[in-house]
Amino acid sequence: MADDRAATAAAAESVERAVSARIAPSDDFLARVAQVRERLVARAEAAARERSSPLVRALVAGSAARGTFLQDRLDVDLFLLFPSDLGRERLREEGLALGRAILTDPETRYAEHPYLRGSFDGFRVDAVPGYAVADPSAPLSPVDRTPFHQAYLAERESPELVAQVRLTKQFLRSLGVYGSEARTEGFSGYLVELLVLRFGSLRAMLAAARAWRLPVRLAEPGHEPPRLPADVALILPDPVDPHRNVASALSRRNLALVVLAAQEYLRHPSESWFAIRPRPTLARAEALRRVEARASHVAVVRLPRPDLVDDTLYPQVRKAERAFGEEIARAGFEVLGSASAAGPDRVLVAVEVAHARRSAVRVQEGPPAGLDRVGHFLEKWARPDAPVHQGPFVRPDGHLAVEARRSDRELEEVVRGFVPRLALGKDLTPRAPEAVEIFPLAGAPESPVLEEVLGELLAKRLPWLEPP
Ligand code: CTP
Ligand code: MG
Repeated sequence: MADDRAATAAAAESVERAVSARIAPSDDFLARVAQVRERLVARAEAAARERSSPLVRALVAGSAARGTFLQDRLDVDLFLLFPSDLGRERLREEGLALGRAILTDPETRYAEHPYLRGSFDGFRVDAVPGYAVADPSAPLSPVDRTPFHQAYLAERESPELVAQVRLTKQFLRSLGVYGSEARTEGFSGYLVELLVLRFGSLRAMLAAARAWRLPVRLAEPGHEPPRLPADVALILPDPVDPHRNVASALSRRNLALVVLAAQEYLRHPSESWFAIRPRPTLARAEALRRVEARASHVAVVRLPRPDLVDDTLYPQVRKAERAFGEEIARAGFEVLGSASAAGPDRVLVAVEVAHARRSAVRVQEGPPAGLDRVGHFLEKWARPDAPVHQGPFVRPDGHLAVEARRSDRELEEVVRGFVPRLALGKDLTPRAPEAVEIFPLAGAPESPVLEEVLGELLAKRLPWLEPP
């Protein structure tokens, strides 16, 4: 037993060494990144002088500053910091103007606030304006803590830890849970670095994670950030701002997947745990075969995509998915599952129900005998033309009831009926309810987003298992 464990640890060791070697950037590449960092800062400072811009400081932070990046998804994060008394509008203008002066083919993007993406010496660079604040627990814009993160990590990270950070990012990426974007709801780069600092290595973190129960509390007792949401997955205060939970973007599903993967990886380590896996997709024809085998039914709702970035849109898309699922269940269908995604032009929500048609009978409960309201109930339901199968009658518990007739029974028809009064969130509710299209799966127009949604709906399986 002890021998087995030693053998598995040795196997993990050799897997991790091989993967680390494969994903480590070469010395030559690291030297180029270092040079780009210096040149970017020098360029920013020169451009600020030329424009008499009030720039306080330019710095490269994020993983490019520490060598903790995965080479095939490297973005150099250039932060342009301005005085804290500069108005927000001026910050935006000055920051973007400076970014434009530095970058080639700059494109404005919006996260919580605007930044520029462009290129510089062949590298992809994000130029992000922010405020130079003295206290990271009182940031004026969401990125103002970044220089403090950079200082905190740079002081503590050794080359061994840097290699462990890359390895951990790759492991999480293979599971599809790396990235704190709203679409992914995974681990941010900064969270990974703090976890590796805390546990010392990927393996040590996974060994601890095997026994994690959600929510996982990694704060000192009595030092949890305030106002945590009820569905928080992991609590780890930001060392530079203890009121903020570094893991706020991480979903329970994604953390639970890591807990499970930790157990499996430590028992059966192999390089496949670090392989890049495409997101599961399912072609419509295959999805239709599965639906037929399941004797179920799938409807697809298609909405126009509002002009929003994924980070703003995805929370609304997930809310809309929940709203459709709940309303369909309330309408008397047995909901088996749902999925959603946003494409370039459209947002799709798919819902699977056990039966395409709901029952033609709807039980309508009435008041108990003896109440005044009985009169109203009878007036409404005892008329000869009332739409009832049977009743009114008295139930064993003494309440009146009828079994009313339903006219609309098909899922698509029912959804079409309730769409105009469904609260879809402020940006997803189309101006005209007709803009919401509802199809049975067989009639849904094919698209890559549809294949993604169908993968999420009908190809659920732990990512490390062989396909069935
Ligand atoms: N940051 C932050 N809050 C966010 C996003 C980013 O404070 N919501 C800061 C962090 O200090 C982070 C830096 O911005 O280190 C850069 O962000 P990002 O590029 O997302 O993370 P990296 O650490 O660079 O990791 P990656 O390798 O994924 O780029
Ligand atoms: Mg980065």
